[in-house]
Amino acid sequence: MNAASRTKLNQTPEWAALAKHREELDGTHLRELFAQQPDRGAACTLRVGELTVDYSKNLVTDRTLRLLRELAAATGVAELRDAMFRGEKINTTEDRAVLHTALRAPRDAVIEVDGENVVPGVHAVLDKMTAFCEQVRAGEWTGHTGRPVKNIVNIGIGGSDLGPAMAYEVLRSCTDRSLTLRFVSNVDGADLHEAVRDLDPAETLFVIASKTFTTIETITNATSARDWLLTELKAGQEAVAKHFVALSTNAEKVEEFGIDTANMFEFWDWVGGRYSYDSAIGLSLMIAVGPDRFREMLDGFHLVDEHFRTAPAEENVPLLLGLLGVWYGNFFDAQSHAVLPYSHYLSKFPAYLQQLDMESNGKSVDRDGDPVEWQTGPVVWGTPGTNGQHAYYQLIHQGTKMIPADFIGFAAPVHDLLPGLIAQHDLLMANFFAQTQALAFGRTPDEVRAEGVPEELVPHKTFPGNHPTTTILADRLTPSVLGQLIALYEHKVFVQGAIWNIDSFDQWGVELGKVLAKRIEPLLTGDEGTEAERLDSSTAALVSAYRTLRGR
Ligand code: F6P
Repeated sequence: MNAASRTKLNQTPEWAALAKHREELDGTHLRELFAQQPDRGAACTLRVGELTVDYSKNLVTDRTLRLLRELAAATGVAELRDAMFRGEKINTTEDRAVLHTALRAPRDAVIEVDGENVVPGVHAVLDKMTAFCEQVRAGEWTGHTGRPVKNIVNIGIGGSDLGPAMAYEVLRSCTDRSLTLRFVSNVDGADLHEAVRDLDPAETLFVIASKTFTTIETITNATSARDWLLTELKAGQEAVAKHFVALSTNAEKVEEFGIDTANMFEFWDWVGGRYSYDSAIGLSLMIAVGPDRFREMLDGFHLVDEHFRTAPAEENVPLLLGLLGVWYGNFFDAQSHAVLPYSHYLSKFPAYLQQLDMESNGKSVDRDGDPVEWQTGPVVWGTPGTNGQHAYYQLIHQGTKMIPADFIGFAAPVHDLLPGLIAQHDLLMANFFAQTQALAFGRTPDEVRAEGVPEELVPHKTFPGNHPTTTILADRLTPSVLGQLIALYEHKVFVQGAIWNIDSFDQWGVELGKVLAKRIEPLLTGDEGTEAERLDSSTAALVSAYRTLRGR
């Protein structure tokens, strides 16, 4: 559907019907919805790949979902989805195709951008990555002094860091434990310092991950890493070729930095940074887990891509998750969305999703450049569930805010060090199930009184419940399941952006800070002082205080 021809979202009859339905539903408690529908748990469960998705503890009826699907139909979600999969330039503000789905397409698929099939190129890079990883993992990639590489330091930021760093933690159990992998992103020198201080440079490979190869944090860290390596090895520029590889779309800049383009793994402008970790950006991850596990992960992504592309709306899980987010954000004014994994390995998953969701849908103008009159992307946050239970769950249970949450758990642990540790898994999962139960059904004042609680404490010990959650359960956290989970959220974000009529694939909002940092840096270090007239009074005073503290 042409964005320009769209009726404003909040002027559509589908929106009005949802607003009316929301009023009708006001005051309805999940306790009632479950009482009215005895098989609600099973009836409100969908499956995709190895993921079981129970949405029964959401504040929805069949009618709600029908109305939401009608909104999706009216706003052209399926048409935009098909255009994305076809390789059309749906990222209009950057005039780019959006084809992360091509990164996991099978070898014989045909996906064209500007008349050229991009799939052979994707597989050529995957094959090159595979050959390189096999060399490193076999100890055949040697450094400048002839010693095999054992340490890999990935330097990148945002989409060139969060994905591989997260997935490396998730897939720890599949990694080659004889290799040390570290991820450096922060321009704070402490990050690089701590990453390399105990490494032997002769055995260290730096993977410089940057789509543009101009990102100041990454290039600064890469330059410092090169200085460290050459100083420690007492070597000249010729050592760089054996200790630096690049993951980028920008061969010119890679060469300028001094990295041999033979050691560059390319990707393309139709891969967004936050959608890129299954491209060459995943090289460090592939070294850690091996090419086979990496390809299993890609297959997991592809499985959900195909589901999203072909499953009917009633069974389409990414569509469902996207619609639930629209329901709460636009009709209940929920401001945030919690993602609560009950797996320690998923510790970095919420941080990864923050970029995926908030950089994609943190927009306030529509695709035509007009201000939106409706809420767009939520604040996404979370940490592993049991830790959260002892930190912020109080607010979710008894606070005043509505916080829809996704609970993600697994039937079987992937660790097997001690039988006792495996038994701990039942306790972990008992917490997992108990929390969504408590959030949904709460505890009424009468139930509290029945436990003999003194009257003055009854309000304090009452749990209102009615807090919506979605439960995602899988057997084990395998590479494929990880791919399935990520693709699920990628497409959820897509659905919401399509409904809100925003460009989910640009990120102009991060530019201003970069420009101003470049202007401020010389004021911190140069002789011209704070040049107060160019700064606002607050920033000028802070810069001046900083200079004084630094003795300048
Ligand atoms: O944060 C802005 C951003 O452009 C992200 O979208 C991207 O993932 C990150 O910077 C890193 O960019 P690059 O890979 O070009 O270094």
